[in-house]
Amino acid sequence: MRLTRRLLGTLLPLTLVPAAVVALSPAALAEPAQTRTGTEVVAHRGASGDAPENTLAAVDEAVEQQADSIEIDVQRTADGHLVLLHDATLARTTDVEQVFPGRALDPAGSFTLAELKQLDAGSWFGPGFAGERIPTFAEFVEHTGDRAGLLIELKEPATYPGIEKEVAAELGAPRPGVVVQSFDHDAMRRFAEAAPDVPAGWLFETRPTGAQLDDAVATGVEQINPSFRVTDADLVDTVRARGMQTGVYTVNEEPDMRRMIDAGVDRIITDHPGVLRDVLDG
Ligand code: G3P
Ligand code: CA
Repeated sequence: MRLTRRLLGTLLPLTLVPAAVVALSPAALAEPAQTRTGTEVVAHRGASGDAPENTLAAVDEAVEQQADSIEIDVQRTADGHLVLLHDATLARTTDVEQVFPGRALDPAGSFTLAELKQLDAGSWFGPGFAGERIPTFAEFVEHTGDRAGLLIELKEPATYPGIEKEVAAELGAPRPGVVVQSFDHDAMRRFAEAAPDVPAGWLFETRPTGAQLDDAVATGVEQINPSFRVTDADLVDTVRARGMQTGVYTVNEEPDMRRMIDAGVDRIITDHPGVLRDVLDG
């Protein structure tokens, strides 16, 4: 079943897709190296099941668990630095209440980098991670190096005008295994203008419509990344017929991993990359 879908997926873009569609998405003709050998394993916020999310410790854990790529969330400090953080506030993942009493529910972007660096971003997860810091985006890129690909989510980019250009500038020249994605598709259009050669992904909470997929193709999107809860083999085939790939989030239970593998997705985003690796290895 899986091999059949993969073979069809290889042939479909060359046989069924109208020439005009293929012409709009030349990247689709060259499948990225990381997906050639099977379903790609993506560590969600790093290996966030075993280390505090969006930290360098979670990066190291993801590499240890043989993730192909590491997903992180990018936001911006009050003084203009790109940092790794998922939530709109610091309350859940740091000791902000102790360090800055009364500011726990202030927007994350109202803190300077110097303030963020005073916070403990590890103790909330476990005492073994005490003292872990919120990394800057540059620190994350440098620390990961070529040990894994990078799946970079622009988190609530409308909150940070101009962040698309800033991420593009910090990334510099396109390099293998680096993809930028967001739920905010208008922001992704701006990112495509700033960095047309960097592969892009559109995230979806609900099942993408045909019109949305056509829009993505016209924008040069390479990855359609929906919740696994709205994804099945028909959607994977529909996306692939348009010359794009499918990556699903956030798949943490083995039966769901197996269902998504059977559906033929190109990548799975999980808090537990080691578990997914074991499932893939049979
Ligand atoms: O990569 C997709 C996934 O990270 C999106 O959901 O809320 O974990 O950022 P969230
Ligand atoms: Ca994310």
